[in-house]
Amino acid sequence: MADNKHKKPHAIIIPYPLQGHVNPAVHLALKLASQGFTITFVHTDSIHYHTSKAHPNTGLELFAKVPESGLDIRYTTISDGLPVGFDRSLNHDQFCAALLHVFSAHAEEKVAEIVASGEDVHCLIADTFFVWPSKVAKKFGLVHVSFWTEPALVFTLYYHMDLLRLNGHFDCPDRREDAVNYIPGVKTIQPKDLVSYLQETDATSVCHQIHKNCFNDTKNSDFVLCNTVQELESDTISALQAKIQFYAIGPIFPNDFCTTVVATSLWSESPCTQWLDKQPIGSVLYVSFGSYAHVTEKDLLEIANGISLSKVNFVLVLRPDIVSSEDADPLPVGFKEEVADRGIVIPWCRQKEVLAHPAIGGFLTHCGWNSILESVWCQIPLLCFPLYTDQFTNRKLVVDDWKIGINLSDKKVITKEEVSYNINRLMYGESEDEIKNRIKELKKTLEDAVSPSGSSEQNLSQFIKKLMAKI
Ligand code: UDX
Repeated sequence: MADNKHKKPHAIIIPYPLQGHVNPAVHLALKLASQGFTITFVHTDSIHYHTSKAHPNTGLELFAKVPESGLDIRYTTISDGLPVGFDRSLNHDQFCAALLHVFSAHAEEKVAEIVASGEDVHCLIADTFFVWPSKVAKKFGLVHVSFWTEPALVFTLYYHMDLLRLNGHFDCPDRREDAVNYIPGVKTIQPKDLVSYLQETDATSVCHQIHKNCFNDTKNSDFVLCNTVQELESDTISALQAKIQFYAIGPIFPNDFCTTVVATSLWSESPCTQWLDKQPIGSVLYVSFGSYAHVTEKDLLEIANGISLSKVNFVLVLRPDIVSSEDADPLPVGFKEEVADRGIVIPWCRQKEVLAHPAIGGFLTHCGWNSILESVWCQIPLLCFPLYTDQFTNRKLVVDDWKIGINLSDKKVITKEEVSYNINRLMYGESEDEIKNRIKELKKTLEDAVSPSGSSEQNLSQFIKKLMAKI
């Protein structure tokens, strides 16, 4: 083995070009750089365009401040094959097709360019949803690290896609409706709690091609790093570790939870701290549906009317594209005036800052994995309204397994009465103390995991040790 004791590892990091993937990837880059890595961070032109546009006056250009801190992070961009202003969320299939067919070639060219520049590059850390990293890493003699930004449970469901198909739970016309109880490390999961893509009966779409091919690629990776915590998903992780080098290193947050050293938001953040400062402790419901999913106009109306009926104070985040239609204001007529004394509606915010504010008492969420981890960190109980992809599976973890939240609705059709009832149940209901106690325990689990002797820190050290032995 070569003497690598004094070698400075150099990793290329390529996140999936979506907000919920970019955030943990940026903080992984900072974490590894603080451990002595050189990082070359690659964004798409579109992500660069949006983050720069969202932060024009702050000077927080991506990674611009980092050199002052002594961290060795370089930054470059490539095209994903679509014009920067193209609406990727409203044209999901076209976006997936570009990532599948065009982005792969651009990423390979960029890796070739970095390697050819004479830099001693050792590894490629790329999002698990890409279909090409293991082939590209092999071609350029790099160690391939697959970066998974969702729970281990979701990873293992995709990983065992063929088993689900073989057993008739996926990709067949008469899909079985009984529980899935044969995935290693997963005691049981109901078909309704599978990832939305794995609930489909026809798996021929471009998105399915991505899922199938990316997990085939990941099976050839050298390591998988996952933004979860060993103690949260121990059975699932142990079962995966029997097959692949899987490391739980989460939660991957900035060192100071609320401080933004590097701009990551794709939208400008509207201020709301001053308004929150005036609200009583624990009185405000924070409502957000994440960065990508859409809500139907009908559901949004019921939710808005339910919030109105509930009488709670609220911060409602509504991205401009929240309903996939041209309707400029999807809220009920008169809503804003009616609730002006107890709520604000904004297009985007600094979510971590909002969740950490003492006025927040509950979070009506689409169950994105980052949002869940952030909410647990701030000990905010969750009201769950999953919309697509992993969010259905994440809901199961929150409500059924960890019992740190409740469902927004138990039926397919949501009504304002049920929304209002469940908001009040979450904020002031009998089970509120039980939920709060459990979320306090879970916060401690997360905190312990990232302490110097905690599982995530130890796993990260182990990973670095093994990586160093390979380069
Ligand atoms: C999707 C998946 O559902 C999620 O599980 C996966 O990890 C990433 O992609 P997304 O809609 O991006 O989710 O939600 P989430 O994972 O919660 O990530 C959103 C991020 O944007 C969070 O880090 C959150 O803090 C941030 N955010 C959200 C803001 O900064 N401001 C906002 O107003 C809303």
